Amino acid sequence: MSFRSRTHTCGELRASNAGETVILNGWIHRVRDLGGLWFADMRDRNGLVQIALDPEKFPNRAEIRPECCLEVEGVVTLRDEKTKNSEMPTGEIEVVLTSYNLLSPAKPLPFPVSDEAQMASVSEELRLKHRYLDLRRSYMYRSLAMRSSANQRLRNFLSARGFLEVETPIITKSTPEGARDYLVPYRQEAGLWYALPQSPQQYKQLLMVSGVERYFQIARCFRDESSRADRQPEFTQLDIEMSFITEEDILTLNQEMVREVVNGLITEFHLDKEPVGDFPRMTYAEAMDKYGCDKPDIRFGLELFDVTEHVKGSEFGVFENTIEAGGMIRGVRYPGGSGLSRKEVGVLEDFSREFGAKGMASISFISEGEGVALPGGLIAKSSITKFFSPEQLQAIADAGKAEAGDLFCFIADGYEAGNNVLYRLRLEIGDRCGLREPRKLAYMWVTDFPLFEWDADGQRWSAMHHPFTAPKAEDIPLLAETPGKARAQAYDMVCNGSECGGGSIRINQSDVQAQMFGLLGIDAATQEERFGHLLEAFSYGAPPHGGIAWGMDRLIMLLADTENIREVIAFPKTGPGFDPLMNAPSTIDSQQWAELGLKRG
Ligand code: AMO
Ligand code: AMP
Repeated sequence: MSFRSRTHTCGELRASNAGETVILNGWIHRVRDLGGLWFADMRDRNGLVQIALDPEKFPNRAEIRPECCLEVEGVVTLRDEKTKNSEMPTGEIEVVLTSYNLLSPAKPLPFPVSDEAQMASVSEELRLKHRYLDLRRSYMYRSLAMRSSANQRLRNFLSARGFLEVETPIITKSTPEGARDYLVPYRQEAGLWYALPQSPQQYKQLLMVSGVERYFQIARCFRDESSRADRQPEFTQLDIEMSFITEEDILTLNQEMVREVVNGLITEFHLDKEPVGDFPRMTYAEAMDKYGCDKPDIRFGLELFDVTEHVKGSEFGVFENTIEAGGMIRGVRYPGGSGLSRKEVGVLEDFSREFGAKGMASISFISEGEGVALPGGLIAKSSITKFFSPEQLQAIADAGKAEAGDLFCFIADGYEAGNNVLYRLRLEIGDRCGLREPRKLAYMWVTDFPLFEWDADGQRWSAMHHPFTAPKAEDIPLLAETPGKARAQAYDMVCNGSECGGGSIRINQSDVQAQMFGLLGIDAATQEERFGHLLEAFSYGAPPHGGIAWGMDRLIMLLADTENIREVIAFPKTGPGFDPLMNAPSTIDSQQWAELGLKRG
């Protein structure tokens, strides 16, 4: 079909264009057919403009339906004072049609692309099935534009500092990052498989052995784990590796890059966010103690506190039994929570149970009313105050820095199990109290992660970050006897309670790497088969090196203010790794089965 290219974009027309004849290319956003009068909004990627036509001159105008693709020619005309629309950048004018060319008609739509209010009730499944229409919305286009700009800014930042962008293979060998591999059968020989990379980890380390010194890649990673709100089976990392650097160098460079890139995006996209400042640092141990997790949201306080010592020896069986079993009693403060009804406290208790708590005990602190008067002046109110002396209750109040109106919520459990509940309770309280300020991007570093975590199912140690992470030099002696106590030279970049990046200084000596694999229960033969290439490479002058990877999808989620990772990915997968648009995964034909030498299970 022939068509004439635009002379202008829809969004750029202004009063100063009045009188000009223009050609526009785009889509019909919305139509208002009032019988004697006919208007529509026409849209292209630059914005919207109103078009108008004389119904008598265009008897076929009913074919101009929402979302059809159109070329129009018309004259830019000033609107009457009373029909001007100050909410549209093009609201002072309209384009009065002289002709149009229907480039491609549109069937009735599966959902109203132009109506954001109605889109809120459209199922995500339907949106994903017709993702190409969903992406016509300016809201979706904006997150694609943010991603594109972020990539560009990162490239500029890193290139200016001597980093080389290197592409690494997608069909390759398994590299462990803690998830299942996606596997691809090798057609030439039955029984052999490629794995898609969970990250470019080994290749980037091999590039350091090659002397690249400063590498980056905007890399696709594949992990066969079910998707969650902030997790996709296929996602994008900004992947970085550097030689002859310390942990400090990596943290400094990345802080500078986040600040430059994120603050640039805030300005470019007029985001309602405060600029990112310096990143505070916290060790893993401190994060677990104060926030119950290794990715704290530090936009607000409400730090966890421990009352184990203060409640010891009471008649309250729940607490006593936990303490006897080696557990602890820790709590979180809920400002204003003393006003909750018994039923509302029950809802919080149910919330805690959802995450494995056996229950949740609570005490209100009030300034007047019934209860136990404390030496400090507050009154403690709860069904469990009878188990404690006023002095003990005062010590509990002090441990959590009680203020009038607070509810203290307590979880009695082992340290880790308790933390798993308390960190979520703290976030829930933060949400309820409006403390998770959407304008703040509270970036921070969490450092000094443990090298290993105990895998209770497999009854063995597993690497907390990955097996290539170096232990802290001073903790190397711990490896033989108490590996659980050894800390790693590993760090995470956290923002607003989300892990947005992670990395480490690596092992660069074959013998240490082999020792590490050994501690992870990988025997010598398996080491050779799976990682022989790396162990050998480290025997040819491997420089000290380290790096980091940012989760790009999560970065854009923070900027786009969404908790759903699918909103910032053009063509995402649903929960079980399904693509409703392409209908993938799908079956293969019998010839492909035969070629691959595979048998149907
Ligand atoms: P890690 O596994 O911590 O480290 O991943 C780095 C960052 O990638 C993001 N991320 C994800 N985003 C979306 N969906 C997922 N399934 C997903 N998994 C991870 C997170 C995370 O912080 N090779 C190492 C990096 C290194 O050591 O340099 C690695 O992959 O934001
Ligand atoms: P019970 O003796 O089981 O009736 O519990 C008495 C109170 O203690 C209830 O409010 C329970 O929710 C609470 N509780 C029970 N188990 C725990 C626990 N592990 N941590 C904190 N509170 C608990």
